Amino acid sequence: MRKINCIGVLTSGGDAPGMNAAIRAVTRSAIANGFRVKAIYRGYEGLINGEIREFCTEDVSNIIQRGGTILKTARSRDFETTEGRQRAYENMCANEIDALIVIGGNGSLTGARIFAEEFDVPCIGLPGTIDNDLNGTDSTIGYDTTLNTIMECVDKIRDTATSHERIFFVEVMGRDAGFLAQNSAIAAGAEAAIIPEDSTGANQLEQFIGRGIRKSKNSSIVIVSESPKCGALYYADRVKQEYPEYDVRVSILGHLQRGGSPSAGDRILASRLGVGAINALLEGQRNVMVGIKNDEVVYVPFSNAIKSDKPVKKELIDVLAELSI
Ligand code: F6P
Repeated sequence: MRKINCIGVLTSGGDAPGMNAAIRAVTRSAIANGFRVKAIYRGYEGLINGEIREFCTEDVSNIIQRGGTILKTARSRDFETTEGRQRAYENMCANEIDALIVIGGNGSLTGARIFAEEFDVPCIGLPGTIDNDLNGTDSTIGYDTTLNTIMECVDKIRDTATSHERIFFVEVMGRDAGFLAQNSAIAAGAEAAIIPEDSTGANQLEQFIGRGIRKSKNSSIVIVSESPKCGALYYADRVKQEYPEYDVRVSILGHLQRGGSPSAGDRILASRLGVGAINALLEGQRNVMVGIKNDEVVYVPFSNAIKSDKPVKKELIDVLAELSI
């Protein structure tokens, strides 16, 4: 096995609060263990284009509290091609980078898996996405902060909903996963959540209306997972058509969900995972995502981590349903 002297670190895909805390942890833990660290800018794009510079501990000072990523990020189309990955590998060699730590979501870790296999490069992934859609870890970096941001937004929207006696459909991010919608609905005391994982989703609105939203409450909030066809606008239109007596509004939270200072939970998670990534390399681990399961650091093979079947617990669906009567 090739000796590792220098570790490259990059952030890729959508930015997530806590990515900076992860960059800091990786950098400091690597240096503490005698490695050199090279920061790669703009995700895989920077690896392909050689946007790389050496980091020392001071380069990651005063960033733990900042949202976004100081390394910038991108969704690289070039890295999806063999030629792009070949150039990335050549730049890795030219910059004497022996191992790569990739902080990102599903697409980014899929890229890492392919790259690691193609060029026999040690790659370690850290789950960095607000969507919480990676298997093998209870939470991903950014998820907790985003959940809190959504909750605060819905608390504010509720003031208007209550004052005007309206039904609000609030659309939240999550790509194909309903974790943000389901748990923000519970946290904000919403009346319902419409998520892709719940097969009864299509009927939820009928059930919700059927329960007589206006009988016992003077306003309602429904959290809807983003979806190209069936987002908040779709459901709001349906209700407007079928129940013209209701005063319906839509609020699409958009990218304000992704920004902001990371929560304590995300900072601690990112710090533990960053140290975990260096430990993984020291232990000879290759091509795994570092996660935290039941409060223990775990190594999850990329192929398992990126499987698109992380379940939303049925219990969470039941809790919301029972508490929103
Ligand atoms: O994966 C994170 C995420 O914020 C998703 O929830 C959302 O679907 C997507 O990224 C939006 O991506 P972009 O910022 O490129 O529009």
